[in-house]
Amino acid sequence: MTTPSLKVGIIGGSGLDDPDILENRVEKEVTTRYGKPSDVLILGQIRGVNCVLLARHGRKHTIHPSAVNYRANIQALVDEGCTHLIVSTACGSLREQIEPGHLVLLDQFIDRTTKRVQTFHDGGVNSPPGVCHIPMAEPFDPVTRQVLAAECQRAGYAFHPSGTMITIEGPRFSTRAESRMFRQWGADVINMTTVPEVVLAAEAGLLYASIAMSTDYDCWRESDEPVTVARVLAVMRSNAEKVKALFTAAIPKLAESEWLEEYNKRQAMAKGAVM
Ligand code: ADE
Repeated sequence: MTTPSLKVGIIGGSGLDDPDILENRVEKEVTTRYGKPSDVLILGQIRGVNCVLLARHGRKHTIHPSAVNYRANIQALVDEGCTHLIVSTACGSLREQIEPGHLVLLDQFIDRTTKRVQTFHDGGVNSPPGVCHIPMAEPFDPVTRQVLAAECQRAGYAFHPSGTMITIEGPRFSTRAESRMFRQWGADVINMTTVPEVVLAAEAGLLYASIAMSTDYDCWRESDEPVTVARVLAVMRSNAEKVKALFTAAIPKLAESEWLEEYNKRQAMAKGAVM
């Protein structure tokens, strides 16, 4: 068996997908067995580490969360030889202490999506054979999360080293009753894209980490205006540089981490999950 080289797929969420973070950029148009990803792949390096950037909603933000071809996105990054996926996502906060502009390094999720294919093994003619029951107790890679946390700490960012994301189907935002219920369920932040992206990454045996940027307090707080697109965009724009800087600082550090052992574990887990 050959040892894989570190290659980091970066899936940029809304406003957090600036190709300038990569040196020696080359665009590559690809099609996968599941169709086309959201946009071209942008290949390049961050301080010598090979990376592949993909805008989750397309570079012009034309694809809504339920319409993203998550399988094609993950497959395209697998086909490019990625070992890691580090993604960014804007999110609402369900906790007082997670203020707009704070970063949350996710360690769990709750799934409230209803319309999305969550497996590569769907019995289709283009799909790999077998039925896949992928373990999901620890969806996010703890080694990458640790590297991201160390860089947040070093840079002095307001961040939370763990957090549970609840992913809703959207595209509408939640009602106040839903928002309060999600808090009772133990969710810390809310978005529309973590599921099924993290699930498919696990099926592919990739090391997946997510940097969630809080942009609003959703609508559970009586004292605050409920979330609007204008509010999300304003907070995202004023904090995008922070997320870019985090990618740039953390990715070179991955090379010094014990990622290979973790990668082999995830690969074995993915293979063992198929009946
Ligand atoms: N993305 C950013 N803020 C959000 C919210 N409050 N709910 C769902 N997705 C979001």
